Amino acid sequence: MERRRVLVAVSGGIAAYKVPELIRCLVRAGHTVRCVVTDAASHFVSPLVLQALCGSPVRSQLFDASEESEIDHVALADWADIVVLAPATANTLARLANGLADDLVSTTLLATRAPLLAAPAMNVNMWRHPATRENVGRLRDRGVRFIGPESGALACGWEGEGRMSEPETIAAEIELCLGPRSLTSTRVVVTAGGTREPIDSVRALTNRSSGKMGFAIAAEAARRGAETVLVAGPSALSTPQSVRRVDVETALEMREAVLAEMPTASVLVMAAAVADFRPSKPATTKIRKEDLGDSAPVIELVRNPDILAEICAQPRDGRIVVGFAAEDRDVLETARRKLARKGCDLLVANDVSRTDGGFDSDRNAVIFVRPGGEAEELPLLAKAEVAARLWDLIEKLRGSSA
Ligand code: CTP
Repeated sequence: MERRRVLVAVSGGIAAYKVPELIRCLVRAGHTVRCVVTDAASHFVSPLVLQALCGSPVRSQLFDASEESEIDHVALADWADIVVLAPATANTLARLANGLADDLVSTTLLATRAPLLAAPAMNVNMWRHPATRENVGRLRDRGVRFIGPESGALACGWEGEGRMSEPETIAAEIELCLGPRSLTSTRVVVTAGGTREPIDSVRALTNRSSGKMGFAIAAEAARRGAETVLVAGPSALSTPQSVRRVDVETALEMREAVLAEMPTASVLVMAAAVADFRPSKPATTKIRKEDLGDSAPVIELVRNPDILAEICAQPRDGRIVVGFAAEDRDVLETARRKLARKGCDLLVANDVSRTDGGFDSDRNAVIFVRPGGEAEELPLLAKAEVAARLWDLIEKLRGSSA
């Protein structure tokens, strides 16, 4: 099994007593393990025991000069291939859902770009409380994975859901989350976000794409071991771990960046919402009302090149090219026609008229359409999950064409 870097973040619950066993499972599986604990956690499990098992210092304080000099907390967040929050208490989940960062564990959870697996443990009523349900829902939407809690006798005396999963179960889930590394030695290019086409020096034409879907696809490719390049339109999203990001603004810049990356790529996923038109003569300075009198400017538009169609028209040489289709009506039929027109190997169609997914949402409901017209409709899923399903399919297509 490949050696990976697992950061175990321990929050304060009685189930923390199971963490030494979890660390032993991970070390036995050949992984390098580091551990951070909250102050509360150190009442339930000895940091000394954790330290002895993982073979490196266990950190608990955010502002400790000696600890920071060993490895600073951001470096720790960057170091991890995966972060496991075990046990995940109601309080830690709430703080993470709200972006609080007031101790080492919460800061690390917020700073990391690695996948996060949470193993909740709490009283059954706390688990069922609407506040916890809401926090878990928000975290799932952001791509956090959960294992458990399981049902049984709880330390507080209640029976029900709330027991942290057993260490072996969590360790097995970690292997699943770390993924099969099935894309090692594959180079992929993913585009994301909308492009921005200047009208003048301060105004631009753009669209409502947030880039979240494309970023999730790039994150998943990197997680599976692909050398991943993300060509991104303007976006405030943070770059996923192990992804090389090329920032672009306009469709022409995106085309240039994609064409430059393509010769060595085996997969292209065009998730970007590329503007089809751009102002033909953007003004180099701001258009002022006082220069226009009472009239409004007339902005002439010209067509942008179709990057996807251009790539598809080139010899494929075994490469897989995936397009997206943002449709607001007759989704499947329009997507089938679009796929035929563009000539890609797979088209991911999404209905942007839905209010429960699509633009700027953390979820998406998509249909995978294949050149024969064959279609697979997925339910509304977190974008991270859609990305995982997409790579499963791409891997299958690559396998069958190999
Ligand atoms: N695309 C592209 N270059 C463009 C426009 C779109 O590469 N100039 C790609 C998108 O990244 C996406 C696919 O083509 O993968 C479909 O984009 P979409 O906007 O749904 O379709 P269009 O081709 O723009 O057609 P229309 O807007 O008329 O539906």
